[in-house]
Amino acid sequence: MKTERLTAEQTARAGEILKKGGLVAIPTETVYGLAANALDGNAVARIFQAKGRPMDNPLIVHIAGIEELDPLVAFVPSTVYDLAEAFWPGPLTIILEKSDLIPDEVSAGLDTVAVRMPAHPLARKIIRAAGVPLAAPSANTSGKPSPTTAKHVLDDLDGKVEAVLDGGACSVGVESTVITLATRHPRVLRPGKVTPEELSAVLGEDVEIDDAVLHRMEEGAVAASPGMKYKHYSPKANVVIVTGTIEAFTDYVNKRDPKTTAALVFDGEEKNLHCTCLPFGKEKDDLAHANRLFADLRKCDDLGMKNVYVRCPGKTGVGLAVMNRLLRAAAFEIIEL
Ligand code: TXA
Ligand code: MG
Repeated sequence: MKTERLTAEQTARAGEILKKGGLVAIPTETVYGLAANALDGNAVARIFQAKGRPMDNPLIVHIAGIEELDPLVAFVPSTVYDLAEAFWPGPLTIILEKSDLIPDEVSAGLDTVAVRMPAHPLARKIIRAAGVPLAAPSANTSGKPSPTTAKHVLDDLDGKVEAVLDGGACSVGVESTVITLATRHPRVLRPGKVTPEELSAVLGEDVEIDDAVLHRMEEGAVAASPGMKYKHYSPKANVVIVTGTIEAFTDYVNKRDPKTTAALVFDGEEKNLHCTCLPFGKEKDDLAHANRLFADLRKCDDLGMKNVYVRCPGKTGVGLAVMNRLLRAAAFEIIEL
């Protein structure tokens, strides 16, 4: 298949392809999504094929306006409107009990559905052009770092999808926060730019944070969010998180082969390191870390690196999302110096 390259002006063409059951990779503010008509089970099944995604991992349904929510879900708890008012359009996904309109391919057999209204104006324009809600996981090959540019999408999916619409680099860089309202207490299943503190403030109660956010799941455990159980976000290179001072980090990393070793460090820490350095923001700048993490991990592969050592970021605010992705990229391997 020849993958069409669409520009920001060609949202109508994207809508046309989606209406006919095709797949289009679209920009959102978080990461690029691989979209299909969410109400067409056959179109959605093709997403799983193109990505090589396990069929038991459900997809997020993207809407362009709040009026599109009601038909997709069994009922709308009033707290949804509070969250929507505060965070939509934006990087927050809400899990609710699903309606019969949602095909099994989208919900992977669960009785819930994940819904998000993206902030990227092109994403909403494409949803409107398609005239239907769009199911869209991140537009990467399953297991790879999520794509934050159209080039990343093409690196993985060229020839496997009908089109990619280039909307430039994504501003957030990590996927949306996923919160479920289908449990007794609201619970964050995946951290993102919208933080647990912000969610708690709007909901008027402390949201729970699922154990799987920062911990490896036990073999055979049932995941609240099936995506949490897979190895994820990893480049071909072996990723290791390193705690401790920059001096200890530098000593440790300088003992490795500089030709095949990369270091993800905070801005300004490169000077004494002999290997390839990819600065990913100032030490306390969690938004910058989120913005650059996936692109840097992909770059390590482009440069043919075998090992990537990463300075351990903080776990507060958006740092929780960065740490959640890093732990999976590193298959939970941490070296404490
Ligand atoms: O920012 C994002 O959320 C991006 C853009 C494209 O919108 N999308 C994205 O989709 O990250 P994906 O498929 O890569 O991640 C969706 C996550 C997975 O971990 C999945 O298991 C979880 O959401 N999820 C989806 N539906 C769910 C449901 N009904 N119950 C529990 N978890 C669900
Ligand atoms: Mg994904």
